[in-house]
Amino acid sequence: MNKTRSFLYRIAKIAKHNPADLRVVFGTANAVAEAIESPSADIRVFPSIDYADITCASSRFVMQTFPGIGASISMLEGAALAAFIQKLGAKRIFEFGTYKGVSTTQLALNLPDGGMVYTLDLPEDHPAYTLAITKAEEREIATEIGKGILIPQELRHKVIFLRSDSATFDTTPYLGSMDLVFVDGAHSFDYVKNDTEKGWEMLRPGGIIAWHDCTPSHPEVVSYLKSRTPMPTLVQGTALAFVKK
Ligand SMILES: C[S@@+](CC[C@H](N)C(=O)[O-])C[C@H]1O[C@@H](n2cnc3c(N)ncnc32)[C@H](O)[C@@H]1O
Repeated sequence: MNKTRSFLYRIAKIAKHNPADLRVVFGTANAVAEAIESPSADIRVFPSIDYADITCASSRFVMQTFPGIGASISMLEGAALAAFIQKLGAKRIFEFGTYKGVSTTQLALNLPDGGMVYTLDLPEDHPAYTLAITKAEEREIATEIGKGILIPQELRHKVIFLRSDSATFDTTPYLGSMDLVFVDGAHSFDYVKNDTEKGWEMLRPGGIIAWHDCTPSHPEVVSYLKSRTPMPTLVQGTALAFVKK
């Protein structure tokens, strides 16, 4: 009760002196409420790890900034993926979902010479997909042109751009050969399941599979990841979850 009273007292004080700041308080409360409201989107059940525990003090990663580009990974998520590359001594990476090429760039930048990122996105001339993509905003992104356009020219020798619907993509040439798989294509339950199953069969034993958007605003990703055993681990402060094979 004391806590409730002091909270209400603070709210009243903010309302009197800085009413505009109430947006910050209610915005934060709303984000937490969103995360807790629906059990299927609640991410508190996932084990989590601090970024500092997947890297070491002497690690040096290279990141490129892409100001103003949305629907892409954050710098911390890029650094976490770079830490996986270093930890695994990764040479072969498979990515579902290229979009403009932000994550592809961070992956390629941190790969040693001779390494390769295979990145998959829908064909530009015929961006049809077989399974359902539930969010309208995602369907728009799927049909945008200019996929991979931000991948710098000097990194292109480290990138193989594959164009196909992941639901019909044939993994046969890649089975068991990838050190790292990054799943960031369509975010519907059926697509995350499809991409995970295909990613898993392309992953070598001891490799890491990581998913983007394990966050309440993508409840179908959360819901699918909860159905998996073992449950993926979240990198704290990010929407990145991962499992080692
Ligand atoms: C969120 S964006 C990827 C963002 C990117 N990984 C980054 O961080 O910069 C998702 C991408 O997945 C692609 N995509 C959606 N459905 C797909 C499918 N069925 N097969 C392959 N790619 C798909 C979309 O065209 C879009 O470019």
